[in-house]
Amino acid sequence: MKVLLLGPNGQLGTDIRRAVDARGAAFELETRGRERLDVSDPEALRTVLGEAAFEVLVNCTSYHKTDEVEKNATAAFAVNTEAVKEMAALCGAKGARLLHISTDYVFGGAKRARPYAETDPPAPVNVYGASKAMGETLARLADGGVTVLRVASLFGVAGASGKGGNFVETMIRVGKEKGVLSVVDDTTMSPTATADVAGMLLDLLAAGAPPGVYHAVNSGEASWYEFASAIIARARIAADVRPVTSDEYPTVARRPAYSVLDNTKIARTIGRPIPHWTDALDRYLREKGHTA
Ligand SMILES: NC(=O)c1ccc[n+]([C@@H]2O[C@H](COP(=O)([O-])OP(=O)(O)OC[C@H]3O[C@@H](n4cnc5c(N)ncnc54)[C@H](OP(=O)(O)O)[C@@H]3O)[C@@H](O)[C@H]2O)c1
Repeated sequence: MKVLLLGPNGQLGTDIRRAVDARGAAFELETRGRERLDVSDPEALRTVLGEAAFEVLVNCTSYHKTDEVEKNATAAFAVNTEAVKEMAALCGAKGARLLHISTDYVFGGAKRARPYAETDPPAPVNVYGASKAMGETLARLADGGVTVLRVASLFGVAGASGKGGNFVETMIRVGKEKGVLSVVDDTTMSPTATADVAGMLLDLLAAGAPPGVYHAVNSGEASWYEFASAIIARARIAADVRPVTSDEYPTVARRPAYSVLDNTKIARTIGRPIPHWTDALDRYLREKGHTA
C-alpha cells in the first residue's frame, strides 16, 4: 500500500514512520514535510498532491497551539479546515483515500461524564476545536471516502513540534526542578501514546476498514492531575503533585471539562483490545530511559 504522510516530523508523524519501518514491506511510505509543502497554500497542495503517487494520504498536520489559536482563527482554519477540505477533494479526484487526524477537542460543550462515541455530535468549546470539527465536516462533504481518526492528549518520543514537547516530559522536568507540581484535577481526558495511535492506524489500513470516524485513543481515562501523579510515581521522582481547579489555573482558551473518547469501535474493527494508558505510559517511560 502506497502511503503519503504529511507532518512526518511531528510527534505522531514520527511514530507512524517508526511503525511503518517496523512492519516491513506491507506499506510503502513517502513523506512531505512543511519545507516541501505548506498545506495552508492551496496552490502548493494541488501541485504536490497532484504529482505524488499514493493510495492513502495520512494528514498529521495541524495548527494546535490551543491558546494561540484563539486569536489566530484565520491561520487555524487555513491549516485545520480549508487544507483538509482540499486534501479530501484531491484524494477523491485521484481515487485515493484520506486518513485525517482530528481531536477530542471537537467535544466538550455538552455536560457529561461518559465517554464520547463516534456518533455523538461535536460541540467544541474553543477555536482550535471548532476549526478541527469543521475540517472533519468539510472533508467528509468533499469526499465520502474520508476516514477521520480522533486522538487525544498525545505523548510520543518526538514530543509535539507544535507545542514544544509533551506533558510527560514537562511533568518530569518541572518535578525534578521544583519538587512540586500543581495540576488541574477537574479536566478529564484519554491520555494516549502516539506509538499506539500509529499501530491502530496501520491496523485499520491493513484491515481495509470502511471510511468514517474512529476514536483512536488508549483505554481508560484520567484527569491531568491523575496523569501527572502516575508519571511522577512511575518515574520515581521526589515531587509533590497537588490537585488544583481550572479556575485556579486560567488559560486563554476554554478546555473541555470532559473529553474522554470511547475506543470500542476501533478495537472491534482491528480485532484486538487497545492497551490502557498506564501500559502505554510504562512503555514510553522505559523507551525514554526514565525507568529501567
Ligand atoms: N498533541 C496532542 O496532544 C493532540 C491532541 C489531540 C489531537 N491532536 C492532533 O494530532 C495530530 C498530530 O499532533 P502532534 O502532537 O503530532 O503534533 P505536532 O508534533 O505539532 O505535529 C504537527 C505537524 O504539522 C506540521 N504542520 C503544521 N502546520 C503546517 C503547515 N502549514 N504545512 C505543513 N505542515 C504543517 C508541523 O510541521 P513542523 O514540524 O514544521 O512544525 C508538524 O510536523 C494533529 O492533527 C493534532 O491536531 C494532537
